[in-house]
Amino acid sequence: MQLNSDDLIHDGTNPGGSATTNGAPSESDRNSLSLSPNGPLLLHDVHLVETLAHFNRANVPERRPHAKGSGAFGQFEVTGDVSAYTKAAVFQPGTTTRMLARFSTVAGEQGSADTWRDVRGFSLRFYTTEGNFDLVGNNTPVFFVRDPMKFPHFIRSQKRLPDSGLRDSTMQWDFWTHTPESAHQVTYLMGDRGLPRSWRHMNGYGSHTYMWTNAAAEKFWVKYHFHTNQGVENLTGAEAERLAGADAEYHRRDLFDAIGRGEHPSWDLSVQVMPYEDAKDYRFNPFDLTKIWPHADYPLIKVGTMTLNENPSNFFAEIEQAAFAPSNTVPGIGFSPDKMLLGRVFAYADAHRARIGTNFHQLPVNQPINDAPDPYVFEGNMSYKHSGAAPVYAPNSFGRSYADQEGPVAEGWEADGTMVRQAYVLHAEDDDWGQAGTLVREVFDDAARDRFVDTVSGALAGVHPEVLERAFQYWTCVDETIGARIRAAVQANAEAAADGVDPGAILRETTTNARN
Ligand code: HEM
Repeated sequence: MQLNSDDLIHDGTNPGGSATTNGAPSESDRNSLSLSPNGPLLLHDVHLVETLAHFNRANVPERRPHAKGSGAFGQFEVTGDVSAYTKAAVFQPGTTTRMLARFSTVAGEQGSADTWRDVRGFSLRFYTTEGNFDLVGNNTPVFFVRDPMKFPHFIRSQKRLPDSGLRDSTMQWDFWTHTPESAHQVTYLMGDRGLPRSWRHMNGYGSHTYMWTNAAAEKFWVKYHFHTNQGVENLTGAEAERLAGADAEYHRRDLFDAIGRGEHPSWDLSVQVMPYEDAKDYRFNPFDLTKIWPHADYPLIKVGTMTLNENPSNFFAEIEQAAFAPSNTVPGIGFSPDKMLLGRVFAYADAHRARIGTNFHQLPVNQPINDAPDPYVFEGNMSYKHSGAAPVYAPNSFGRSYADQEGPVAEGWEADGTMVRQAYVLHAEDDDWGQAGTLVREVFDDAARDRFVDTVSGALAGVHPEVLERAFQYWTCVDETIGARIRAAVQANAEAAADGVDPGAILRETTTNARN
């Protein structure tokens, strides 16, 4: 039998009709209202106007950094005992807490390929009994800069040129080589971990130093490490390049499919705990985000396990509109003098107000699950939670409670008095190159160093000569041998290109990186 197109569309399977947004029956989801079948459309077709107008507003702006990503729900189960260090309910022995995780690339926009070389975001929300606790970290334990003033400049240098809209290696290397504190993180980025095989196969780090306080009000400094139970696995450059063309959603698909198959990825959380007083004269400034604390100084203490076991049921509602913020803390967990962290404590909630709307916290994915009283913030776009006729001010005489603590705050610290614009005071072993050099010499093995030289020299192709020369100096400061090898490799690549040979056509096996 010959089918015509009307038979295909109108199969009668959903005959119940639909509604307009005011809840009245809509007349048709197929035919707009026109003056005769071939005539002009009519403006009072409320349903058509609503359908088109809503479609025009269907996106919220993408996140400025970390636009491309996805995530899943799960749980965190405490198996260790860190109650001596924090009173936070989420970390008390035996506690299980519902979670949301989102993974992302930093520089790419929505629709960019998951397998481009980049740092990966590792955002976690714990829906605790004391309110939402968010840990918004990366798959690396350090960062490119140590002052929030530099962050927007850094991100712009990784995004696109203002005239052509193209990404640009000169711009990236220009920023990095003018910012020596970036060396440690750029070494991670250009190493194997810049291309994780999947989000399931990478570690996550809180990166910053945070404060923990225990029930006796004692204070500690803490760093978070999430070690993948799937094992660290990375892609080769050639694999990543092929996948970027074959399946731009490779990482998003991998996580969704794995959870759909019942393969629930998990990560063990360990912390490094530094006694409060140690911070003053530790050999590295413990609040400098470009530094790690060697495990020999502060060993890992196991806390528990995070497992992702539930896919989003609506990507837009639950992932795109998720509003992770380092400012979301709970009693027993605080900030630190890390200037980057303090800058971020402002930046994220502000981004959410702009990106999602003033009342982003009222969306189901962002609502705390505890029975907290309503906050004293009112109205604004899309507000629907309210406190009825209760007073909207504090103090008041009509029974609505308000907070009234005085004196030193629980998760606070002492500070010097004079206001300055100045970099951190250096500790005994602080410099910009030392830990990057250790990573190249002691953590990478020979094969990883070879791949590193290939990657850096490839990434330097076409870079402006002045910036290129500074890049050679940058890597020489990290390690003299590696600097010389990179210079030689760039020159060899340039000669090969002049001879018509493609220097990028080097296939290597998938690698694992020893540093967990
Ligand atoms: C996303 C700002 C440093 C990890 C974002 C967003 C902003 C931002 C505005 C978009 C938020 C949104 O629209 O929902 C900043 C500023 C920084 C900074 C001002 C420095 C002062 C860092 C650092 C890390 C990091 C050091 C990791 C250690 C992330 C992650 C996301 C993100 C993972 C994605 C959050 C998500 O999954 O929704 N950042 N950032 N950022 N940032 Fe940062």
